[in-house]
Amino acid sequence: MELGAVNYVAIAVLALMGLYVLSLIYNNFRAAGVTDRGIQAEIAYLRERVDRIKAAREFDKQKNELSWNGVRKFRVERKNPENKDICSFYLRPHDERPLPPFEPGQYLTFKLNLPSGKKVTTRCYSLSDSPKSEYYRVSIKRNPPPKDPAKADVGKSSSNYFHDHVNEGDILDVQAPNGDFFLDMHRQTPVVLIGGGIGITPVLSMLNAIVESGSKRETWFFLGVRNSAEHVFREHLERLDRENENVHVRIVYSKPDDNDEQGRDYHLEGRVGADLFREVLPSNNYDYYFCGPPPMMESLFHGLREWDVPESRIHFEAFGPATVKSKKTADTEDGAAAPVSGSGFKLKFTRSEKELVWDGSADTILEFAEANDIDMDSGCRAGACGTCITAVLAGEVNYATEPSADVDKGSCLTCISVPKTDMELDA
Ligand SMILES: Cc1cc2nc3c(=O)[nH]c(=O)nc-3n(C[C@H](O)[C@H](O)[C@H](O)COP(=O)(O)OP(=O)(O)OC[C@H]3O[C@@H](n4cnc5c(N)ncnc54)[C@H](O)[C@@H]3O)c2cc1C
Ligand code: FES
Repeated sequence: MELGAVNYVAIAVLALMGLYVLSLIYNNFRAAGVTDRGIQAEIAYLRERVDRIKAAREFDKQKNELSWNGVRKFRVERKNPENKDICSFYLRPHDERPLPPFEPGQYLTFKLNLPSGKKVTTRCYSLSDSPKSEYYRVSIKRNPPPKDPAKADVGKSSSNYFHDHVNEGDILDVQAPNGDFFLDMHRQTPVVLIGGGIGITPVLSMLNAIVESGSKRETWFFLGVRNSAEHVFREHLERLDRENENVHVRIVYSKPDDNDEQGRDYHLEGRVGADLFREVLPSNNYDYYFCGPPPMMESLFHGLREWDVPESRIHFEAFGPATVKSKKTADTEDGAAAPVSGSGFKLKFTRSEKELVWDGSADTILEFAEANDIDMDSGCRAGACGTCITAVLAGEVNYATEPSADVDKGSCLTCISVPKTDMELDA
């Protein structure tokens, strides 16, 4: 289509008017004493906000279109040993439809039929790679036998089941990605990601997502392991450190063995914690994300607080009972319920027809029930997956930590609660 002379004149007039308006705004800013740099910063800030809103909308749209309720069938496409104890499983949806995106740090929930399980066993495993539309990856550590041989029943262990029985081509029942422990990918603030042992999985997903998004966000990644035998994803981490100026990987061995060499196998000797950060990091001004064994999580949390890192910048996930969380909640000033329980409460388990007295020896109602041979379902044991939800027929509970899973008024999550009064439970 050709433009007539009148249209050219109209466009030129509009362009001139636009420039005039922009120069007025610019002069107003100048008159108000706002510097060029200030204006540029303001524009960059607004642009970043608009981009974040657009990206968040797109994420929600895709998630709503592609997510699923209940379980979906996944085929194990690849089973890849990472070291002698950890194995990665690459999972493709059996229906071949694209996968919904997830937030790096989230986990999948598996419904498993274990060899000696009477019923379906629920277990959560963090997604260990960045979001992909074709496959998900989880990396699972084989659980060692319990100290008490009477409790050893390998047929009930899901991690051993994955290692010994789940093979390429097998089909698994999987619930959609979930979890509150994740990295906000729409921000560019500097982060410190910390994995202790198998706790590397959610933070590795965060690291991979940062690198693959092309973000130049300053990123420190600490992996704490005993020695080279536990060192996982070694070449991958070395490559990310080498190829990305903004990424700084530091491997920390707590007990190097005779053949391990500092500088070649690992960077630092000791334990990952605030003391080490004081030496290595330029300042404390980061968001911290960590996952690892309970003692490491405890000392990290308290060490960071002592180093004046605000609680709002400390994010963590436990792969089991939420010990750090309960302390964190108890320390907060917002009056959140601490796991306080007296003893002497009567607990009636109606289905099992048992009436017991709570003696305060167990940390949660779930543990108390298990110790008394009462059958209760559980998955994450951290208030996240909702598997342990139980109807409360009478009485009240105290929560050790705020439940992440949805829980209605007439029920409780037994994995993170203790009785507040005499109780009657539908279990
Ligand atoms: C949000 C979340 C994310 C997680 N992400 C990961 C992850 O990325 N990777 C990962 O590896 N784990 C992860 N976990 C932990 C995982 O869910 C399981 O708790 C872990 O694999 C242990 O489960 P299990 O069934 O093997 O053992 P348990 O639940 O400890 O034990 C079940 C039963 O098996 C018995 N048993 C266990 N091991 C043995 C053995 N070797 N020999 C004999 N008997 C045994 C026990 O005595 C018990 O009776 C995550 C947990 C949560 C909550
Ligand atoms: S076991 Fe997952 S919420 Fe209790």
